[in-house]
Amino acid sequence: MLSNVDEIKSRLDIVDIISEFVPLRQSGANFKGLCPFHTEKTPSFMVSREKQFFKCFGCGEAGDMFSFLEKMEKIEFPEALKILAEKAGVQLVKQDSRVTTLKTRLMDMHRSAMEFFQNQLHAPVGEVALKYLIEKRHLTPETIAEFHLGYAPNSWIHLSGFLKSKGFSDNEIMQSGLTVPKNTGQPPYYERFRHRLMFPIADHHGNMVGFTARAMDDKESAKYINTPQTLIYNKSQVVYGLDKAKNAIKENDLAILVEGNMDVIGTAQAGTKNVVAVSGTSLTFDQIKLIKRYSKNVALCFDADAAGAAAGVRGIEMLWQEEMNIKVIILPSGVKDPDELAQKDAVAWQKAVAEADDFMEYFFDKAVANRDLNNLEQKRIVAKILLPWIARLTDPIAQNHYLKLLAELIKIDEHMLAQSIAKIKNKLAGKPMAVSKQNQVAPQKFSRREMIAERLLALMMRRFDFLGRAANVLGEEHFENMSREFYKTLVIHYTKYNGLNFEALEYEIKEAKNPKIVEFFDALNLLGQTEFEEMSERELAHELDGDIEFLRQTIASGKRADLMEKIKLAEKAGDMNLANQLLSEFAKIN
Ligand code: UTP
Ligand code: MN
Repeated sequence: MLSNVDEIKSRLDIVDIISEFVPLRQSGANFKGLCPFHTEKTPSFMVSREKQFFKCFGCGEAGDMFSFLEKMEKIEFPEALKILAEKAGVQLVKQDSRVTTLKTRLMDMHRSAMEFFQNQLHAPVGEVALKYLIEKRHLTPETIAEFHLGYAPNSWIHLSGFLKSKGFSDNEIMQSGLTVPKNTGQPPYYERFRHRLMFPIADHHGNMVGFTARAMDDKESAKYINTPQTLIYNKSQVVYGLDKAKNAIKENDLAILVEGNMDVIGTAQAGTKNVVAVSGTSLTFDQIKLIKRYSKNVALCFDADAAGAAAGVRGIEMLWQEEMNIKVIILPSGVKDPDELAQKDAVAWQKAVAEADDFMEYFFDKAVANRDLNNLEQKRIVAKILLPWIARLTDPIAQNHYLKLLAELIKIDEHMLAQSIAKIKNKLAGKPMAVSKQNQVAPQKFSRREMIAERLLALMMRRFDFLGRAANVLGEEHFENMSREFYKTLVIHYTKYNGLNFEALEYEIKEAKNPKIVEFFDALNLLGQTEFEEMSERELAHELDGDIEFLRQTIASGKRADLMEKIKLAEKAGDMNLANQLLSEFAKIN
């Protein structure tokens, strides 16, 4: 009898597996590509179909499809085995301790939970939920099945009994995030998800890792709640719908990026299968990198409200930094999100996708909306918003095109604008705008973390009431270098005055006669003026939440990565006591 590993190898082809990550070209009997494990300009990465083996002659990495996936996704053998087994349609022998880890157990548990919720949706207890999906959200039974939608009943224990009957332990159930531990009394856990529609979340391989849950009751304060951070679920690293959409994204060479789970489902039903969403978080670089594996072209379609617009601009900035080609899908006026348009009129949605604007056109429309272009001050504002973006365009033809457009629009001599562009370019030196502004302060390596920290500080200096909100979540450890010094100063000041007093702060800073701090203070002020002056209250609040969340997550994922290493070691050494202790520490990180 074939072992699991041999059976998988006999059913899959290493060339197909590797092609998902690395473009390969046939070269004689073998395949060749750029090595994903080191940086190179000419291909020295070889794949042999005959031997089902890869080797890089540049860096020496070599192995079979399992070791490729392990290295590529930074996972352990049991997870690679699980992913490839599912691809190959091979049933794994579960008893073998080599093929399970707590992670793969948790993924299996999520699949069981998903089946449980699906069954509930189609049982009498789920009647209201099913009716809601069909009548109010206009979903077909096929769509409901395709996205594995389910229903969590309105009781305090329903799922845990089921999971126990499937052989999962109390500890595993608690680690899953599906239940919430109770401090005292019986039973020890209660359900996190009650009377909610359940949207299972899969990673890009299709492993079930979490849920988003929508309230059925309008009076419920949180419309959506999500699985918390667990060993297998990190919301900033998952793209909702990607497991289903990835092939369509490749085929269309375009990913459509929306905000909500329902937007993905509704638009998929309306015929666009290449749609994904960030869920429960603002877009992250990890998510962009995942999407980029399948296409370098993204069309954004965010909600029509101010929060959606702010998220859109932020998203464009990040996608641009990752060198993606960006389009923006414009919703007709009066439509609040992609799902609504898709339900009302599938053809109109497809048309909006086909007619997506280049993101520069979108910025132009936004910049001139509600402005009097005969007014000098308004012309200045429009130029100030658009010139830095035009300066950043790498394609000279596009740059010239938009420069001309701006010149015509505000009736200013094109050559004069071209001079401003040259100035901006000098300052930018190839870097994004917000980074370059800070160049005087930190000319060396400028991390995204530092950039966000400075944006947050600049924001708080304009809006002192935001400091209290940030201080609830962030400590000194979330900041580095000058930002840390400055954050400390702000917090001390805030405590002393029971709020912030800008004049007093400025006086203290200038009095301290530390030129570096003074320079930093001035730079932050400048950053605040240029970045936040035009923002609405909602956009500011969105910026605040996004910045806080980014810093919080950066530190938390560092801590998690450290613990994960230790947990792996403990699991390998068979020290389950230590592993459990580390796991409970892991659960406490937030
Ligand atoms: P929206 O509030 O735009 O919801 O949140 P929606 O997709 O239009 O939902 P419906 O149409 O009212 O059912 C967009 C996404 O943000 C996340 C969810 O993933 C949601 O799909 N979200 C929203 C949360 O995680 N928590 C919330 O409280 C709200
Ligand atoms: Mn909606």
